[in-house]
Amino acid sequence: MPVEIGVISSGASEARASVILYDGMEKVVRNESLVVVRNKNGGDVLAVCRGGRGMNENVRTTSFSPGVAYAKTGRIPSSVKEFYVFNLEIIGVIGENGIEQNKLIIAPTSIVEMFTGEDDPMKYLCKPDLFLGHYWAEPKWKIPVLKQYINYHIGIFGVTGSGKSYLARYEIIPLLMRAGYSVIVMDWKGSDYAPYSSHTIPLDKIKVDDATVLRYFSHLTKNFGYYDREENPVATAVERALRTTDWRGNPPEEAREKILLKAKALLEHDASSVKKETATLWFNRLEAAFELITEEEIERFLGTIEPWQILTEARDKKIVVVDMSKGEKEQKLAVFYSIARYLKRLMERKQRLAIALVIDEGPQYAPWQPRGLERETTDLIIDLCALGRSYGLSIVILSQGMAGEIGLNAAVRRNLNTQFIGRIHPLDLEEAQKLASSYYISPENLLTLPEGHFYFLGRMNPSPTPLLISFQINEKR
Ligand SMILES: Nc1ncnc2c1ncn2[C@@H]1O[C@H](COP(=O)(O)OP(=O)(O)O)[C@@H](O)[C@H]1O
Ligand SMILES: [Mg+2]
Repeated sequence: MPVEIGVISSGASEARASVILYDGMEKVVRNESLVVVRNKNGGDVLAVCRGGRGMNENVRTTSFSPGVAYAKTGRIPSSVKEFYVFNLEIIGVIGENGIEQNKLIIAPTSIVEMFTGEDDPMKYLCKPDLFLGHYWAEPKWKIPVLKQYINYHIGIFGVTGSGKSYLARYEIIPLLMRAGYSVIVMDWKGSDYAPYSSHTIPLDKIKVDDATVLRYFSHLTKNFGYYDREENPVATAVERALRTTDWRGNPPEEAREKILLKAKALLEHDASSVKKETATLWFNRLEAAFELITEEEIERFLGTIEPWQILTEARDKKIVVVDMSKGEKEQKLAVFYSIARYLKRLMERKQRLAIALVIDEGPQYAPWQPRGLERETTDLIIDLCALGRSYGLSIVILSQGMAGEIGLNAAVRRNLNTQFIGRIHPLDLEEAQKLASSYYISPENLLTLPEGHFYFLGRMNPSPTPLLISFQINEKR
């Protein structure tokens, strides 16, 4: 049975109300406690206590009163006129099939009761398909989630150490698997998922398609010495060399030699139709580029596992982790690009995927202001999000920041309908204030959330107001 904690104060509406607590209840009711209002106008209204205040007219600091006089002399003023109030963030009225929007004004003096351990309020939210974690203070209250919005994509935000990767590993990935998705995890650091999975693929074993290799080389060599939009015969020759020679099956020095020789041959063939100086310039630029395209650079791309094999492996084993620990940033992006582009092509051919792509360290791929290869990975992620809604691809992105310099690209973030927001960085205070003004969640609260605590908001959440959730990490990996 819920316990009675107080009554609704004057001035309540259908969407906003405050509760005046009975004497002593201020020691029991906490921020984010769940309550039900027995509305005298009809219906039982579910709500969250958010933002409490203690009031005592005797000790108001804006006017002088006997209480203030007492306090000044170091004696305790009377607490007879003391009371405690909590704002209530309304979730909705309890209906037959779950929670509904409350349309009746909440009558002042209606009784408010708080849920306690025995009595699980989550059952009022919806008829759930799936559960995730638990309500912050009560491990028995599993959070229901709406499965049909998983492919409207998921964002997990919080500073380093707030528990994002743990949330993904312990809760989100198992949830995705229960919902019938096969999961591909891009483990940027190789330390958050790879050590705990028996199905990992190292970065350098993955085949990167020739177009992406060329993109990498262009980046490495500053476009082979040409301007961006200028005709680029050297890049064209290298591209054709990559496509038409069998370089991947060889040791790095031989692979490099093969590509270089082939590119030279191709340029020589074309050289007959241009001026001598132009041809000399081509060869110089090719040589200069191959000073930078060293054996080590070639070695990054000798992998032979193709994106379709990764997909097959994911479907077979239900999860694969791409271990990206060994590799340069650009190489990581190239591998990601290769896999993501393959998924995009499948969806363009109208294949339903039932795949979830988990991207830890999201701003590495889609930062606030993308540069170089980042620009292409950012655009690709946006495309995947749009197609994924129709073809069953769920994108899950983890990021230490929400907006601004440390944040995720704004266009990508707009595509992440469901969000988990943990302890935020002070640079994100402005973002936090937007949340605060919509839901009474105080920015100070967001700055100090303990690790493993996240506000859950968006369409996967059957509650229209964010819920503070947590999860346990001892039972399973
Ligand atoms: N639900 C939880 N309960 C207790 N501790 C947790 C929980 N989630 C995370 N932690 C702790 O927080 C630390 C950081 O978590 P991690 O997921 O690596 O953070 P992030 O990915 O945000 O940098 C973990 O090493 C773990 O000790
Ligand atoms: Mg992490």
